[in-house]
Amino acid sequence: MIRVEKIRKEFGKNAVALDDINLQIEDSTFIALLGPSGCGKSTTLNCIAGLLEPTSGRIYFDDKDVTDLPPKDRNIGMVFQSYALYPHMKVIDNIAFSLKQRGMKKEERHQKAREIAKMLRIEQYLDRKPSELSGGQQQRVSMARALVKNPKILLLDEPMSNLDARLKIEIRDEIRRIQRKTKVTAILVTHDQEEAMSMADKIAILDKGKIQQFDEPQVLYNHPRNLFVAHFMGNPPMNFIDATVEEKNGKLYLSSPHFHVLIRENMRKFLKDSVNRKVVLGVRSHQVDVSFGAKESYIPVEVCMVENLGKEIMISGYVGESFVRITLPEKIDTESVAMQQLFKQQEGTIYIGLNSAYNVFDKESGLNLTYAV
Ligand SMILES: Nc1ncnc2c1ncn2[C@@H]1O[C@H](COP(=O)(O)OP(=O)(O)O)[C@@H](O)[C@H]1O
Ligand SMILES: [Mg+2]
Repeated sequence: MIRVEKIRKEFGKNAVALDDINLQIEDSTFIALLGPSGCGKSTTLNCIAGLLEPTSGRIYFDDKDVTDLPPKDRNIGMVFQSYALYPHMKVIDNIAFSLKQRGMKKEERHQKAREIAKMLRIEQYLDRKPSELSGGQQQRVSMARALVKNPKILLLDEPMSNLDARLKIEIRDEIRRIQRKTKVTAILVTHDQEEAMSMADKIAILDKGKIQQFDEPQVLYNHPRNLFVAHFMGNPPMNFIDATVEEKNGKLYLSSPHFHVLIRENMRKFLKDSVNRKVVLGVRSHQVDVSFGAKESYIPVEVCMVENLGKEIMISGYVGESFVRITLPEKIDTESVAMQQLFKQQEGTIYIGLNSAYNVFDKESGLNLTYAV
């Protein structure tokens, strides 16, 4: 287990890169540190690696305090965005380099390099120089170099950023396969939420040097703790609609000049103390019921565009000032007359109903009021 306890990192007086970072990472799991550029992902990773010294806080591997240990004594492997291979060395010697430093005999270290190269499917390139390899192959070499020492922890800092889209997906699968096989504990830094979602067992979302939420991908997607996480997770992004919580005749509503939606019993407990509070309704594009006629408790959407994306139909429009996107399964809906008309005219009004899968955020603090701990 890796424990990061209350890590703070300052670069000079007024530059706080990390502010009270806490993480517990179980052995053999795959973790992603996700967030926008400059949020502190690499700084966190480099503190865990020992490349940076935290201003305060401690880091433990199992029960051992490693905060003051140099990187070479931490039993870690690292892979960076720039592959940083030695250009004058053959691939096999690049992979085996750290073993040479440890004093391992040539035959033995080459044997180990060949084994790991086989696992990464690069054994046919071992006699080449790095410049004679493609970007994807170079990335595999840098993975092999990190893994050859049989590290307990693998740290990956945006390792796929320099690869084209197709190769990215291939390497994603490859990294995950190898992590499962070697059971190494892996921490991936990325700004790409799709990459994090597809690879990680758990994701820590950072913003401004603070962890916003550390959870399984599905939990982040369905139950974001605040507006930042909600904005960051999912494509298309969650829809956000301004509203106020209102009470009338003992019933609660989400209200605005454009709609009046009854809050059902299952959500009532979260919102009963928020009467008159300005809130943001957050609902995903596919988690609404769509009607072509007005219905009680439905929200009218002024449609401005309808697109057929193949597997689904995307309807874009406005609720007041709020831009929303609704997706519908293609099969069901191209058949209906109302849908065909909407397609033809590219405008009109549809009505969306909320099922139970929605979130309500406090507009001011951004906190999810419907977040059940
Ligand atoms: N060596 C450094 N000196 C001064 N500021 C730094 C240094 N490294 C990082 N920072 C600052 O710390 C913050 C976090 O940086 P970083 O961890 O690299 O972000 P990320 O990897 O999430 O893009 C940024 O504001 C960055 O400018
Ligand atoms: Mg970085």
